[in-house]
Amino acid sequence: MNLLTQIRSLFEPALAALAPDQAKVPDLLAAIKPASNADHGDYQANCAMALGKALGQKPQDVAKALIAALPANDVLEPPTVAGPGFINLRLKPDFLAKAIAEIATDPKLGVEPTKKPKTFVIDLSGPNVAKPLHVGHLRSTIIGDALVRILRFLGHTVIGDNHLGDWGTQFGILLYGYKHHRDDAAFTADPVRELARLYVHVRGLAAVAEGEDEDGAGDNPIMTACREETSRLHAGDPENVALWETFMPACLEMLRPIYERLNVKIDHALGESFYNPMLACVVDDMLAKKIAFESKGAVVIPNAKGVVPQTEEEQKKEEPPAIIRKRDGAFTYTTTDLATVQYRAETWKPDVMLYVVGAPQALHFKTIFAQARRWGYADVDFQHVQFGSMLGKDRKIFSTRKGGVIELMSLLDDAARLGLQKYEENSAARRAVGHKVFEPTDAEKREIAEVVGTGAVKYADLSQNRTTDYVFDIEKMTGTDGNTAAYMQYAYARCRAIFREGEIDTARFRTHPPAVVISHNAERLLALQLLRFPEVVDSAVADYVPHLLTTYLWDVAKSYSGFYENCPVLKAESPELKDSRLLLVDLVSRVIKQAIDLLGIRVVERM
Ligand code: ARG
Repeated sequence: MNLLTQIRSLFEPALAALAPDQAKVPDLLAAIKPASNADHGDYQANCAMALGKALGQKPQDVAKALIAALPANDVLEPPTVAGPGFINLRLKPDFLAKAIAEIATDPKLGVEPTKKPKTFVIDLSGPNVAKPLHVGHLRSTIIGDALVRILRFLGHTVIGDNHLGDWGTQFGILLYGYKHHRDDAAFTADPVRELARLYVHVRGLAAVAEGEDEDGAGDNPIMTACREETSRLHAGDPENVALWETFMPACLEMLRPIYERLNVKIDHALGESFYNPMLACVVDDMLAKKIAFESKGAVVIPNAKGVVPQTEEEQKKEEPPAIIRKRDGAFTYTTTDLATVQYRAETWKPDVMLYVVGAPQALHFKTIFAQARRWGYADVDFQHVQFGSMLGKDRKIFSTRKGGVIELMSLLDDAARLGLQKYEENSAARRAVGHKVFEPTDAEKREIAEVVGTGAVKYADLSQNRTTDYVFDIEKMTGTDGNTAAYMQYAYARCRAIFREGEIDTARFRTHPPAVVISHNAERLLALQLLRFPEVVDSAVADYVPHLLTTYLWDVAKSYSGFYENCPVLKAESPELKDSRLLLVDLVSRVIKQAIDLLGIRVVERM
């Protein structure tokens, strides 16, 4: 049950009756929102201003008329008008209590399955294999996985597809390295390691700087030789194709531990190589349908406006076309992405295709989407779910070492180490003031370190509005204060500790929830927050912005600490109150666990 939707539906008939222009009703409804200041109410309807303008009436009068026109209901207290015409809305305590009982017995905590289930294909992660994982791919993996989880939770069909870069120049480097510098014994013993060594070794010989893209690396003889190996592979040279096939399992093996550690499973990994056999047909078909054109020996598709700028003047002010077949006959990243659209559309018949890819590729996707629509995929809702860059503390693109590329595993190791360290400091501080502290075994410590460390990296990423750049600050993200993973994981464990310490079985709170008694404002605010979960999940998918869930988690945590300070649970004044409070505590833990799970982050029962 989405509270906001419910409140809006109370207003809808009244707004429709009063609005002179029915087309404006959705905008008026959108002006009903959670209250920005809890002192004024739970929600506020700010629609009287715009409506007053349209009607040529005073907003205050319009607000009163709207209130008078609301249907009788047991959701809202009588609304009040404030200032120039704000309508403040407060939920009835009985409604809150009943709604809490409803979510308590619902495994999905009030989140209803979508009324319009759709099929989504989500393009996520997309690392270039045989190379160290770039932080951009880390963001794509984390944000993409959160979207997969949230959309599935709502009942959509979701197909995750990892568009691996498994056909690029890095294979030329490996082929060259393998042919000229391999250590056979090492390759037999541990191909993963030997390939990684060869990659680094050849880049060193070719003097490609760390982080530099090999495609852009100069024309020295070694890079030229590597590129020739790539061309031979693409042309189907049997030796190179056979070698590529031997390398691939090892390359995928390099990625496996990272996904495992990030707790990310992607349904498919149809990489660039998969589309290779389809590329010639794509170009021919687009030429035949007059979507693509020959231009100076190459084949191009027009920009999103449908233009292939010709004159220098045009080239200056228009977006460029995209090449889909180079003069030498080679296909491009764009060709592959067009083949991918075709394959996905025909195989999975999706309603929506999401591309979770960094902002620098915006133009690439804009062009692809526009031309794919003309090509016959106009029914697909294409969305580039773009994200900004991770920055270092110096506010430059993040890198652990020179060059913008990081070794992700060591970063996760650092996060785990720091996470555990801070956890232990925190425990020591609490022990020092006489608190009872959980004393984990070594195995439990390892588990805490991993859950807290990886959680910290993911949570920090997901707590940013994805479109903005953010500073990667490992100290801050592993912190136990503020809106961090560890804070939420603690909050969860502390909720569970109450049940353990009181030796109370949770089951009955989920099957036969006791009546909620609202005796203190902190209880009321907490109940309201818990009920907002479905609304937040809906908003997070509406714009594909998982950070709304972290904002929400923080709100829940704040309401919970207000509650915890003011409302004794195990020592509540009466058995009814104790039960009611235990129910709220159980729900806090469930909401945290569920919300954080939608972000792909785990909790531990004790910490
Ligand atoms: N491998 C690409 C890169 O590193 C990302 C792939 C994104 N997905 C796509 N369908 N193009 O830039």
